[in-house]
Amino acid sequence: MLHLRSPYKGANNTAPVRAVPPCPGPAATGPPAASGSMFPMVPRAGRPPSHQGEDLDVATISSTGHTRRDFLYIATGAMGAVGAAAALVPLVTQMNPDASTIAAGAPIEVDLTPIQEGQVIKVFWRGKPIFINHRTKKQIEEAQNVNVASLPDPQPDSARVKPKHDEWQVLIAICTHLGCIPIAHQGPYDGYFCPCHGSVYDTSGRIRSGPAPLNLALPPYEFVSDTRIRIG
Ligand code: FES
Repeated sequence: MLHLRSPYKGANNTAPVRAVPPCPGPAATGPPAASGSMFPMVPRAGRPPSHQGEDLDVATISSTGHTRRDFLYIATGAMGAVGAAAALVPLVTQMNPDASTIAAGAPIEVDLTPIQEGQVIKVFWRGKPIFINHRTKKQIEEAQNVNVASLPDPQPDSARVKPKHDEWQVLIAICTHLGCIPIAHQGPYDGYFCPCHGSVYDTSGRIRSGPAPLNLALPPYEFVSDTRIRIG
């Protein structure tokens, strides 16, 4: 006679266990779960209280499972969106010239609109200070009516400004003597004065007196519109 036996001890005596539908709410959850169990033990309806300890159903709180799963979906999606945004930031940033590129010589543009007549501003290009002087009519006339031949570094004013833009004087603000930075609106010509050793420049940036041998240098620049220049 053939005997079929389970390899597991007492396997044929295991009480039936079946899942019941999701718990309808706190009022129907029944008695507290047995100690050490993840699932509340729910007695079958219709059994007398003396039999409630037998043949208990295992109830799973499926609404909690949905909530956890939904949370994981949302959290995963949110993390993905944050990661994608974080990846875009360096991508966009790397399209702009960085500070080292600008310092190495990338052109800069300057809006001239806010600079009042008679005002001098200072900007930096390639790490060098640049004076932009919005000259007055009087300053322009004085710069033009100079005996060029008498200058230490002869140069007409017209050669130091852009055609039809006499009012704008753009200079590298580094003294040609030993490299100090001159002060604007100083000296007898209302131009620039170097405090280190007393060199005097006029409003065209030409050396007029003092130890500096040359006029202030001009940076490469152009007008991209009537009110905007590009330096470099
Ligand atoms: Fe300007 Fe000497 S550095 S006068």
